[in-house]
Amino acid sequence: MRPTVAILGAGAMGEILATGLLRAGWQTDELVLAVRRPERVKEAEMRTGITTLLDTAAAAAGRDVVVISVKPKDVPTLLEQVADVITTDQIVVSLAAGVPIAVFAEQLEGVPIVRAMPNTPAAVDEGVTAYVGGEHVDEQALATAAAILGAVGETIALSEDLMDAVTAVSGTGPAYVFLLAEAMTEAAIREGLPHHAAELLVHQTVRGAGTLLVESGKSAFRLRGEVTSPGGTTAAAMHVLDEGGFRALMEDAIHSAAQRSRDLGARARRDPPA
Ligand SMILES: NC(=O)c1ccc[n+]([C@@H]2O[C@H](COP(=O)([O-])OP(=O)(O)OC[C@H]3O[C@@H](n4cnc5c(N)ncnc54)[C@H](OP(=O)(O)O)[C@@H]3O)[C@@H](O)[C@H]2O)c1
Repeated sequence: MRPTVAILGAGAMGEILATGLLRAGWQTDELVLAVRRPERVKEAEMRTGITTLLDTAAAAAGRDVVVISVKPKDVPTLLEQVADVITTDQIVVSLAAGVPIAVFAEQLEGVPIVRAMPNTPAAVDEGVTAYVGGEHVDEQALATAAAILGAVGETIALSEDLMDAVTAVSGTGPAYVFLLAEAMTEAAIREGLPHHAAELLVHQTVRGAGTLLVESGKSAFRLRGEVTSPGGTTAAAMHVLDEGGFRALMEDAIHSAAQRSRDLGARARRDPPA
């Protein structure tokens, strides 16, 4: 039987998960959303068909799984709102970047808590989510959480100390690829290609390269080697990227995102509820 799910904080990620669950077979009456601003109630209901409440405690009460999808800074306030209604036979799944399981465990004594980091390609069922279970999460609870997260893509169980790195790599990762696509499109236009052709060529190249990478079983290094012949066009481009410090920049960017994730978590620990 499908677990009932409350999604508290139906913003970008919350809505992506909600609509993914609907595509995966969940019925609207097995789901409930909670939002903060009254004007968002109608909006979320219209877009998803799922009952949307302003009362987070009412949304959370009695659901098998409570997904927390508010910004990290809003976690303490949300926990204040729902701590009294969440019981130990429910499962809490937090999507909040950087916020450690300990922050939830402090307020939700004995409740199984799963910390997860999805990404936005979940909107097309091509997401990837890393997750980790806290102290009270047994095999069944972890499987339930994995089934919900797996409705919108791949999942991988990892230890909690790696979650900030995950946030920096796959949580933030789509933005790196979108930036690359933007930059390639602009360069294509400067080389004389019409806008629509530049977009088609870039978008399909990103999709094709991604699919090839996942489906061929070959490493990125090997696939890159297969398009790079000595003295050829790819070699000329790779030389410019290497000289320009592309790898070092990517390393710095990912490091900076991981550090930011740690900072957000530290803030969620320190900030008193508003
Ligand atoms: N977006 C991503 O790519 C991504 C990827 C992985 C993980 N995440 C994580 O997912 C979480 C949500 O991110 P997001 O991008 O979806 O942010 P978002 O679009 O700002 O959504 C968060 C939503 O939570 C609502 N909210 C805040 N406090 C609330 C409360 N007490 N009760 C009910 N609703 C409340 C906000 O309402 P208002 O609109 O009224 O402020 C907002 O709509 C974050 O913790 C983030 O770290 C996001």
